[in-house]
Amino acid sequence: MSEPEPLQELETIAEASASGIAQAGSTEALEQQRVHWLGRKSRLMEMMKLIPQLAPEERGLFGKRANEIKRAIESQLADRRVAVGGVSQAAAYDRTLPGQSFSQGSVHPLTQTQDRILEIFTAMGFEVADGPEMEYEYYNFDGLNIPADHPSRESFDTFFVDLPSPEPKKGKLLLRSHTSPVQVRVMESRKPPVRIVVPGRVYRRDALDPGHSFMFHQVEGLLVDDKTSFADLKGILNLFLRSLFGPDTQTRFRPHFFPFTEPSAEIDIASTLGSDGGSSFARKRWVEIMGCGVVHPNVLRKVGYDPNKVQGFAFGMGVERIAMLRNGVKDIRAFFENDLRFLEQFQGGK
Ligand code: PHE
Repeated sequence: MSEPEPLQELETIAEASASGIAQAGSTEALEQQRVHWLGRKSRLMEMMKLIPQLAPEERGLFGKRANEIKRAIESQLADRRVAVGGVSQAAAYDRTLPGQSFSQGSVHPLTQTQDRILEIFTAMGFEVADGPEMEYEYYNFDGLNIPADHPSRESFDTFFVDLPSPEPKKGKLLLRSHTSPVQVRVMESRKPPVRIVVPGRVYRRDALDPGHSFMFHQVEGLLVDDKTSFADLKGILNLFLRSLFGPDTQTRFRPHFFPFTEPSAEIDIASTLGSDGGSSFARKRWVEIMGCGVVHPNVLRKVGYDPNKVQGFAFGMGVERIAMLRNGVKDIRAFFENDLRFLEQFQGGK
């Protein structure tokens, strides 16, 4: 009797091992099967050791098939082990291997602060509104009582957009330099009462430094009703700032000028944060946190509201400034660099 062809013998092993394993009825029997088919002295292993001696043209095919059969036997053994109840499905895996960890995303610190601001105002009955970042000159300026020759136009170093205006009557196109234009858009489109907060990006031609960015975020607020007063404005904004920064937060309303509000004020909060790293010598420092005021009658008139029947107040704040104070961030640019080492510190924050 001549020796069987090696490839043919492999097939014989494949068949015999499959039926042998299928018939094993206990873990012990399976262990014997394993030794018999895959043990160091098994026929398959001996044949595999001889691969290097085969003629090159046979080697590839034989090696490939031998490996396939070896893997098939291993997986049949594993399946059968589960079937005979020797191992639970879970134990068939090596639980001592280190797990794969997935890095988890987190809400951007600016979004966290913005969400918190909106949450406080929506709890007081304000609704969230928005408007376009590319705006007409009219809404950014004229509608807000800032005529073309008004010097305060220059305090908003505006980016103009080099495109023909689709509505020349509303002036040139620009990137809005504050969120106040949305006040005008919303009042134009509905009757009072109005109670809105408006988050959004704004743009100014500022050089980048630790305190400035050419793009930043504001939250605007507007309330118009038949009876509102500066006292309501003060009450609501004090409540807001104490919700945001803590019940003991001190505030100061300092007279200021905005063309679209009269009277106007800037609000400062007392902060020891960031003054000298919180040492025992930390001195109280007033930090400007928002602008506000009673809506100017001219602004109401332009949208068709009657200033003798309704009044309102408005406010605007910078989200970056607030996020920096809340989190002790000293450089505004950190918010825009997308460095995960920075962003990961805000995981789970609010
Ligand atoms: N729009 C003003 C600014 O960007 C802030 C502000 C809004 C002031 C509403 C008063 C009322 O500086």
